[in-house]
Amino acid sequence: MRILLVVQGKGGGPKTATARNVAVAAAVAGLRVGTLDTDPQGSLTFWQGQRPGDAVAIAHEHRVLSAIDRAPTPDGLDLLVIDTPTAVEFFPVPTAILFDAADLVLVPVRPGPEDLVSMQGMMPYLRGRRRPMRLLLSLVQPRLRETADAREIAGGMGTLAPVEIPQLQEVPRSFTAGLGTAEIAGTRTGPLFRDLWAYLANEMGI
Ligand SMILES: Nc1ncnc2c1ncn2[C@@H]1O[C@H](COP(=O)(O)OP(=O)(O)OP(=O)(O)O)[C@@H](O)[C@H]1O
Ligand SMILES: [Mg+2]
Repeated sequence: MRILLVVQGKGGGPKTATARNVAVAAAVAGLRVGTLDTDPQGSLTFWQGQRPGDAVAIAHEHRVLSAIDRAPTPDGLDLLVIDTPTAVEFFPVPTAILFDAADLVLVPVRPGPEDLVSMQGMMPYLRGRRRPMRLLLSLVQPRLRETADAREIAGGMGTLAPVEIPQLQEVPRSFTAGLGTAEIAGTRTGPLFRDLWAYLANEMGI
């Protein structure tokens, strides 16, 4: 079993959209996938409750970050994707447990000056955790100057995933539907999340 930890200090990261869409992409690739929602706001848990009965099964648990006292060890899964709240550094002990358990840390980054400044501030903390880490540009508007800046600045902070997730309304719509775009025909981000998953799987040795 491998653990993918999705972390971003800034709200609206987008952590939950990344976690659920990667989980779905892995599940449609044939893995037994679970999600763990550690955010008291429970967005991922709401999404899980919306999943249609005929959608590919994804096991789920909601355990708030402050209640994490040991590494998650779910039975019978190939992959556990963990969604986190903002400002995980306020809960250093549970957060350290999750980082230590993670095979890979995925940090979504929104192009834009505030998000990049926030990332800059968070990098020493992330590096200090000493886990393999990849940055994912998401909520991307490809032609904006800020996107080009973000590629360069975020690329200087860490290893960027070779896939970017554009800003498209299909992503929030898939939240309400309890789906990931990788399981919705005709979406633009569906194939991108599948490519992202293929990359992450390779990086995690799955
Ligand atoms: N690629 C995208 N295109 C358009 N909207 C997106 C995309 N990704 C995420 N969103 C939207 O951006 C908002 C923030 O995303 P998300 O909820 O995943 O962030 P988060 O980091 O989990 O936020 P929080 O800190 O509140 O937990 C949501 O409304 C989500 O639907
Ligand atoms: Mg969230």
